[in-house]
Amino acid sequence: MNITLHINGTDHRIDTAPSTSLFAALRGLGFHGVKFGDEGGLSGADTILLDGKPVNAGSILAAQAEGHKIATIEALGEHPEQGWRKTDGLHPLQQAFVESGAIQCGYCTPAQILAAKSLLDVNPNPTEAEIREAISGVLCRCTGYIKPVQAVLRAAAMMRGKTISDIRDSIFVPRGPDDHTQTPNIELSNISTQVMPKVIITPKTGTWQTVGKPEIKVDAIKLVQGKPAFTADIEKRGMLVAKVLHSPHAHALIKKIDTSKAKALEGVAAVLTWQDIPRVVYSTAGQSDPIPGPLDTFSLDHKVRFVGDRVAFVAAETAEIADKALSLIEVEYEALPAILDSTKAMKPGAARIHDEPEYVNFADSNPEKNLAAEIRIDIGDVEKGFAEADIVFEADYVVPKVQQAHIEPHVAVTYWDEDDRLVIRTSTQVPFHVRRMLAPVLGLPVKRIRVIKPRIGGGFGGKQEVLMEDVAAHLTIATRRPVIYEYTREEEFIAARSRHPMKIKMKTGVKLDGTITANEMYALSDTGAYGCHALTVTGNTGHKSMALYVGDGEYRKAPNIRFYADIVYTNTPPSGAYRGYGVPQGYWPLDRHMEKIARTLNLDPIEFRLKNAIRAGEYHPFSTAWNEGREPRPEIIHTVGLEQCVIQGKAAIGWDDKFGNEEWRAGRLTIDRRPSIVHRPRSARKGIGVAMVMQGTAIPYLDMGGASIKMNDDGSFNLLVGATDLGTGSDTVLAQMAAEVLGVPVEDIITYSSDTDFTPFDVGAYASSTTYISGTAATNAAKIVAEKIKERAVQMMNKRLNVQTFERSNVTLINRCAVFPDGQTISLSEIALNALHKENQEQIMGVASYVSPVSPPPFAAQFAEVTVDTETGAVTVDRLVMAVDSGVIVNPLTASGQIEGGMTQALGYAVCEEMRYDDKGNAIERDFDRYHIFRADEMPDLETIFVETFEPSHPFGVKAVAEIPMDGVAPAVGNAILDAVGVNLDDNPVTPEKVWRAIKNTG
Ligand code: FES
Repeated sequence: MNITLHINGTDHRIDTAPSTSLFAALRGLGFHGVKFGDEGGLSGADTILLDGKPVNAGSILAAQAEGHKIATIEALGEHPEQGWRKTDGLHPLQQAFVESGAIQCGYCTPAQILAAKSLLDVNPNPTEAEIREAISGVLCRCTGYIKPVQAVLRAAAMMRGKTISDIRDSIFVPRGPDDHTQTPNIELSNISTQVMPKVIITPKTGTWQTVGKPEIKVDAIKLVQGKPAFTADIEKRGMLVAKVLHSPHAHALIKKIDTSKAKALEGVAAVLTWQDIPRVVYSTAGQSDPIPGPLDTFSLDHKVRFVGDRVAFVAAETAEIADKALSLIEVEYEALPAILDSTKAMKPGAARIHDEPEYVNFADSNPEKNLAAEIRIDIGDVEKGFAEADIVFEADYVVPKVQQAHIEPHVAVTYWDEDDRLVIRTSTQVPFHVRRMLAPVLGLPVKRIRVIKPRIGGGFGGKQEVLMEDVAAHLTIATRRPVIYEYTREEEFIAARSRHPMKIKMKTGVKLDGTITANEMYALSDTGAYGCHALTVTGNTGHKSMALYVGDGEYRKAPNIRFYADIVYTNTPPSGAYRGYGVPQGYWPLDRHMEKIARTLNLDPIEFRLKNAIRAGEYHPFSTAWNEGREPRPEIIHTVGLEQCVIQGKAAIGWDDKFGNEEWRAGRLTIDRRPSIVHRPRSARKGIGVAMVMQGTAIPYLDMGGASIKMNDDGSFNLLVGATDLGTGSDTVLAQMAAEVLGVPVEDIITYSSDTDFTPFDVGAYASSTTYISGTAATNAAKIVAEKIKERAVQMMNKRLNVQTFERSNVTLINRCAVFPDGQTISLSEIALNALHKENQEQIMGVASYVSPVSPPPFAAQFAEVTVDTETGAVTVDRLVMAVDSGVIVNPLTASGQIEGGMTQALGYAVCEEMRYDDKGNAIERDFDRYHIFRADEMPDLETIFVETFEPSHPFGVKAVAEIPMDGVAPAVGNAILDAVGVNLDDNPVTPEKVWRAIKNTG
């Protein structure tokens, strides 16, 4: 049928099927600002304006939009520099989103801006609550919504003609350690959320020009315009659509499979089963070589091991034809006994999940026992420690399986290029691992594969997996045509990776004065059907949590710590990497246990933790005993800002006024300095809790990053890195570090990441490593370039003055110039022109790489304030305050965004997120209706405080920031519930039912 769509002021006539959605029609016309997040419109990523009102483009037919005014993000504004053409530049909303740091991955950004525009069109002076409600239909998994709300308020003020100060002026640097006044936010007095972090700055950063400043993200302007930056934003002539037939059985053999009807369907280009492709065993875990885990996976197999496992691949001209073809594939299964409960996996007589002869063991994996990995770590003499304790505390805890829920699904596009090389364009955190690991699976040498990583719409570890690129690649090999494979939201829930659920036993020996004499954790970890990340994730559960408490006195010098784990196969969707990488699973039991011990012994919970916590100058206890299956390398921790974090966090949340205050708990006393944005129920009791956490920064002697920098004619620079920015802002902070060394503003650094053909190798974005590892590589590459610039500047100045006076070591680079001791300068553009066009011509460039011998841990104190409805068990988290020692903060805007977004994900882990299965192994949560992630209008007040230390192993003193916010929220909330109503929750998430039952059982 022919219809006319009026889009952004222009009529577009299209010939389309009656069933075509408005989303498909808009994407087909090249409006890439409208994004796919899910089929039902629940993510809101497909929001457009229809006659000025927000509408999910995927939920209405294109034909229904005829006769209406359609607006997409492309209608709003554009980059202010368009050559000779005059332009109005960005819309105030776009400008405010850029300036406020409201963009992380940017996948939800066009939809948020459009939703906000519809509000401002009718309400030019909205309240914070009105803004939160207006954008509540657009889920954001990255930001925690603080900065988007701030951006809308700024835009509204701008549009009303108000003068708004530079966002940089609202970073609050206290006058001294006791200065706890609030962030100034003069113009936007109707906001209750803390919009910018408080930063306790280390004095060593005083002279820096760029590092430490809230620079605008280098990719922000393209993202607010909805430019085609993401993997799916590409048109390829003749591109086929891939779909996968998933297993309906938790455990079964494929006895027979008939694809003849599917192949006969018009528009089907290929149907592949296990009989059509080589049988190559591999691991999907995106890790360095050799992968520290068993090889137990095939692209397609004759056995299925979970509901959602792969049975067949289809490529067709359209998604509808591909879906129809899937329904025509006839499969005869022989059902096998399934293991759905991790406690039954190693029982005698349990079904064996991996019996394939190709299985390759790693370390202590044993498929005969359904054991993907085993960990046994003993530090000191744990039994002696228990014997010396006055009391030994034991308890069991459970942590759930949860989803990364990045709004951009997994997506890959594959095609043969003109040189017969296979190009894999994919939304991945690990492009170099994708290339290396898929080469044998596809039967191609590594050099015949090129992996391009465009913008990533969120990853959180879910894309540290070579999960589905092989599907599109096999189909391109079979058909010789380009193929796109994009997960549906349901596939994200049934066929992607998730956080390992665990059952954990804690046993802790303590003296009556609060000295920990021995600490033991046992984890039964469920890796699901495949062992991807099984060993390393669960290793971190003990390694990075149990290291925090070493004991005091003599025990501090020789801590007694044990961490044992069995990581077992079950017939459930595989677990994998998820932000925090096993550590959040460790801190729920560890910190809940610490709270119980402190309260039982009548000790102050904060003093008890600090008494036993690791201190600067001490060995990381696990570094002497474990290294992910490699040789241990003892490591001293040089910087620990935990005590200062506690001081700052306590002051910010008002701990001293609230803790132990029955009047406040009962709601008879108001202490807060600003109103909560959360509605409180009646029959409520308030509580306050704390948790202390540490993480790691990269994997020592393993994680490696590379960078190259070349100078352009105008004195600008291209920075090429293999690191992958998932929305974390790593492209920006790497540019800041290079800019600092080269004496230029960040806008003079053009960052590109990453493409296996053009950018240096990098292990990818995981383990909170990018700023530390890739940042050091970028800094070192910049230093090489800086020396070459100085050398040439000296030659030019000596020649200009006809002297031999100046030395390279006396030249500094600042304000785009080489500056000599006598104040004379030569601009970088003069130097670049000289090098490229005039004398002793050369390309000034530098390449460097970096591997760290250490993994300096960041530390944090996490505080939570809750209200518990004693009648319903509903827990409302009113406030989260996190004080973090992540070393020097390169960019407070992007770093605080990481903390806010991380706390928000962790809040879901604490109170509502969980993936469950029925007794046949079918997932109960399959969309954003059943699996709830926080909306803008449901958020508590979040506050971030950075307590800088200067980590000596990094040129700019940084440590990791991205993962630590995942660790402390759940136990702090659990501890606050205990404070409010006196019940201990040992299983998270703390759903109303669990809390209600616990209250009932206690009462
Ligand atoms: S910035 Fe919102 S989903 Fe990533």
